[in-house]
Amino acid sequence: MTLFIKAKLADQHAVVTGGARGIGAAITTALSHSGARVTIMGRDTTALERHAETLENAAAVPCDVADERSVERAFEAARKKFGDVRILVSNAGQAKSEKFTNTTRELWDTMIAVNLTSVFLCARQVVPGMLAARQGRIVNIASTAGVQGANRMSAYAAAKHGVVGLTRSLALETVKFGITVNAVCPGYTDTDMTEQGVQELMTAKKISREEARAMIMRVIPRGTLTTPQEVASTVLWLCGPDASGITGQAIVVAGGEIT
Ligand code: NAI
Repeated sequence: MTLFIKAKLADQHAVVTGGARGIGAAITTALSHSGARVTIMGRDTTALERHAETLENAAAVPCDVADERSVERAFEAARKKFGDVRILVSNAGQAKSEKFTNTTRELWDTMIAVNLTSVFLCARQVVPGMLAARQGRIVNIASTAGVQGANRMSAYAAAKHGVVGLTRSLALETVKFGITVNAVCPGYTDTDMTEQGVQELMTAKKISREEARAMIMRVIPRGTLTTPQEVASTVLWLCGPDASGITGQAIVVAGGEIT
């Protein structure tokens, strides 16, 4: 089975942003094991290089996805190394919980830049090449907060809803060119980001770590966090030929949190 999937993505150049840890690391690993040549983009050069060394045919390219010039430079370097990009997974993101009345303009701008404008900037780098080749896969990692409201997370949820809107609209423009554009919407996933959420809940509600974790678990019908590998499997499937008929979708991977 692994060999079968490997042949499907063989030699395709995939770029994954925020690919050195958490969900991004699981995605880069899945793509690499499936035969793709993977460019791992992110801010922490040491972590990127360390992760790239564990994979076959992978390269680390530093990039701040919120900075237009940095994105341009990174994609230039990626193309030089592995050629035109056929798969883009925009995964990098940040979440900060704050009451609406405490949401500063600075926090709002950061959430939009890192979670939404970044997706636009990266897509802009690959869509012309995909249109010319009449082939491509774009998967944007949104969130359950991209399809429903999230308490004390209005800026993050607005950005992730924006990702879903961009995904659906770009899918319509590219559907006749052999390109698919989809969003994957994880629920609470077992990564540093959820750990940060636990810490924020502890501070905001003045509760223990166990109480904060229990609050999170109460919203997940399955009763366990989503794993990075569960998100990565969905991304991998969307990147393969078996998902050629699926575009403009926001696929929730969240243990029943949204039905
Ligand atoms: P994480 O915090 O472990 O990883 C995020 C990655 O994005 C890190 O590698 C980080 O360095 C990178 N990143 C952040 N800002 C960046 C920037 N300006 N430029 C380049 N890289 C940047 O979090 P996790 O959980 O792996 O998150 C991955 C994606 O999944 C994010 O888009 C997040 O919003 C989304 N998500 C996560 C959920 C969770 O519960 N962990 C739930 C729903 C969505």
